[in-house]
This record gives sequence, structure tokens and C-alpha cells, in this order.
Amino acid sequence: MQIPFLDLKVQYQSIKNEVNAAIQNVLDNTSFILGKAVNDFENEFAKAHNVKYCYGVSSGTDGNHLASWALDIKVGDEIIVPANTFIATAWGATLCSAKPVFVDCDPLSYNLDPNKLNDAITPKTKAVVAVHLYGQPADLDAIRFITKNKNIFLIEDCAQAHLAEYKNKRVGGLSDIACFSFYPGKNLGAYGEGGAVTTNNAELANKVKMFRDHGALQKYHHESLGHNYRMDGIQGAVLGVKLKYLDKWTEGRRKVAIKYRELLENFEQIILPKEMEYAKHVYHLYVIQVKDGSEKRDMLMKFLNENGVSTGLHYPIPLHLQKCFSELGYKNGDFPVSEKLAEKGLSLPMYPELNDSQIEYVAEKIKLFFK
Ligand SMILES: Cc1ncc(COP(=O)(O)O)c(C=O)c1O
Repeated sequence: MQIPFLDLKVQYQSIKNEVNAAIQNVLDNTSFILGKAVNDFENEFAKAHNVKYCYGVSSGTDGNHLASWALDIKVGDEIIVPANTFIATAWGATLCSAKPVFVDCDPLSYNLDPNKLNDAITPKTKAVVAVHLYGQPADLDAIRFITKNKNIFLIEDCAQAHLAEYKNKRVGGLSDIACFSFYPGKNLGAYGEGGAVTTNNAELANKVKMFRDHGALQKYHHESLGHNYRMDGIQGAVLGVKLKYLDKWTEGRRKVAIKYRELLENFEQIILPKEMEYAKHVYHLYVIQVKDGSEKRDMLMKFLNENGVSTGLHYPIPLHLQKCFSELGYKNGDFPVSEKLAEKGLSLPMYPELNDSQIEYVAEKIKLFFK
């Protein structure tokens, strides 16, 4: 049996007519940049996340930049970022010429560990980025408890967490400003690059709207510096169609996670992801840990691959050990939980369309490997 890590074809086939018609509509209207399809999508996406303002942008990375930019983060400032995340989370700081300061992750949630946060805060700290990694919300209240009365902004990186919930509230409106990615493999994926910035703050919203479009609210009237971070009309149209299915797909992911747990729960050699009691996890990724470490993990990965099962590593090198940040002076051992996860973590196939026999096959092969 061949089980890809991700199967975008099967999802496209299920909505092909609707998506094709929506794209055709953009072509017929030659509404290629922003326009009605993007506008409609922004409204629906804001509603789905219970947040006042949403702006479609050109990628999640650009969303990260816009969030920090709108908060007026600049040279001399520091932004706290979890060591265990995708690199783009840190670009928000660096693209504003600020310094990323890393914090280790919690061993259960794999998200920024609020207990380690205080030590990273300095008078220069301007913001903390809470990444809802793998689809599980970070513990926002615990983070806020540490940052309160310190004039520190909270940014949510929701790139992997569309429709995820923290204490029964959808992410994206639970901080000063939040960003999403619609990279094709995400829970809500465009058919190209795409992202969004959401906020309940009118002033920040206005800045995002301007900055994404050359600093102008009215064409050729440039009130501030800006960039071209606009969303394409075709991406807005595709996302508008796909958003209607996102609840169903999210439940599909959660069912896959339940099935993996059922089949692998009592299996001693691995650790399964834990859904925190405050969280509704949307399982963008299903990351297990191989207790024996990186050598065994790599052997399992190879064995699964030979048996038709593709897996992934998220992420093999924590941010503090990335070459691009070598000047910051971090070293091996600084963030042991993130480092362990990089050595032991293995992402199993995860998408809503995975059926029971496919999941059973993956679990069977894992068990066979350890036998
Ligand atoms: C946690 C996180 N932040 C930011 C991004 C950046 O999003 P994009 O790939 O749309 O630029 C990603 C996407 O891979 C991500 O996983």
C-alpha cells in the first residue's frame, strides 16, 4: 500500500467542479489581485474565527512580517519566539530588524513553555509569538500571566491552526494580532501562496491593510511605507470554496488522530501527541516521538518509506541551532526539550481523507518495525 504524507489530489477531486467554477469566475472578471473573491473570503474567515478584521495576504510569512510591522517593532527590539517552530515565525522579528529571542517548548504540548518565558524577558522585549504548533493552541493565559503589566504584545502564529480552539474560543482573535498561512498543505490550503492577518484592533487592522498595499488605502495616495503583500483573486476564490468544508475536514483530522491513538496508545516505544485539556487540537501534523532517539527514529522513517508510508520531520533543527541565527550565540543544550523533539519526532501521514485501513496499515508497520 502507498500512503503519501499528504494527498492534495484526493481533496481536489472531491471539490473539483466548485473550485474550477470559482477560478473561472475570477478569470471571467479578470479580478486577479484582491477584489470580490478575496473580500468575501476575508469576511467569512473572520466570522469563522470570531475576529473583527481579516486581511488576505500573499503568504503566512508575509503575515508574520505584517503582524510585527503593524506593532511597530523595530531595530533594538526583541521578540520572543519558540525554538520549536518553522523558521518563518522568526522572520517577523528579523524583517523588522528586531532580534528573535528563543524559548524552549513544553514537553507535553510542544508549544512555547510559559514557565521558561520569564527568563527570556528583558526591557527590550516588545512581543511574544505564541505559535499554535501542529494545530494545538499554545497556553495563552499562562503566557499572558507572565507578560501582564510589562507592555508586551502577544502575536498568534496560527499557520497550522485554522479553527483550533483555546478554552472553547477559536484562535486568531485571542491576541493583539494573528497570522495564518494558506500554503497548499495547510489545513486550509490555497492553490498557490497565501496567508491572512487577523485582529480585533481597528488601528492595527488599518495598518495591515495599508502596509500590504504599498502604504495606501486609496490608489497612489501613499500614507506610509508599505509593501506588496496582497492576496491573488484566484487564491481568494479557492479559499472561499474550501472554507465551507473546513469544519468537516477538521473533524476528519481529529478522527484520524483518535484512530492512531486507539492503535498505538499502549505501544511503549513511542510517545503520542497529547491534546491539552484547554485545547481543541486540529492536527495539522501528527508528531510521534521515538523514545530511543534519532538513530532509531531515522531507521523507522526509512522502514516506513520502504513499506510505502511517507513521513516527515517537523522540525529537524530547532531555530536556535539554525545557521542563519549563529550570530545570536545559542548552542546545543540551550533548549533541551526542543532539541529532543528534533531528534525523536516523526510526523505520520495526516489528512482528513485517510481511511481506517490506511491508518491501520501505518500502525501495523510501526509495530512490525519494533518487533
Ligand atoms: C508555524 C508557521 N509559521 C509560518 C509559516 C509561514 O507560512 P507560509 O509558508 O505561508 O509563508 C508556516 C508555514 O509553513 C508555519 O508552519
